Amino acid sequence: MLIRKLLGMALVISSSLLIGGSAIAEDVGHNEYMTACAVCHGQDGLGNGPLSYYLTVEVPDLTTLSQQNGGEFPMLEIIQVIDGRSGIRSHGEADPSGLMPVWGDRFSDTAKEDVGFYGAELVVRGRILTLAEYLQSIQK
Ligand code: HEC
Repeated sequence: MLIRKLLGMALVISSSLLIGGSAIAEDVGHNEYMTACAVCHGQDGLGNGPLSYYLTVEVPDLTTLSQQNGGEFPMLEIIQVIDGRSGIRSHGEADPSGLMPVWGDRFSDTAKEDVGFYGAELVVRGRILTLAEYLQSIQK
């Protein structure tokens, strides 16, 4: 009986922790988005950020990524866009100076975080994942 009660309680606590945890992740992802992406893709992801008016190519709406992918969020592709593996010209990947993409080394393991090499790797992966999760959360 007691064990059952305890199990029940543990379940409630762990599920609320899970919900709380993902809310925090979304918040962090939102911050990352506002810092590195909103200037072009817009605060709501619709492609109308203040810089978009000065570009010669259209800035895509990031709320329809799932729609364009048969209803499924293309998580891996998005992670590769953010970590720079898939070259998107407007993000600056082709620049040989090593100063690009436009968000610098915020999402690369050369990020100069003061947390040691493995720490930097973790920080950067966390940023990339929370940002990708945030994008998933704003899909139409
Ligand atoms: C300097 C403006 C600018 C910034 C900053 C920027 N983007 Fe983009 N992004 C673009 C443009 C323009 C395109 C499409 C044209 C191209 O292929 O170059 C694009 C394309 C994309 C695509 C592909 C969309 C599709 O429909 O295939 C994704 C995903 C994306 N950006 C995500 C991001 C994320 C995430 C960030 C922040 C980390 C970001 N972008 C920051 C301008 C920008």
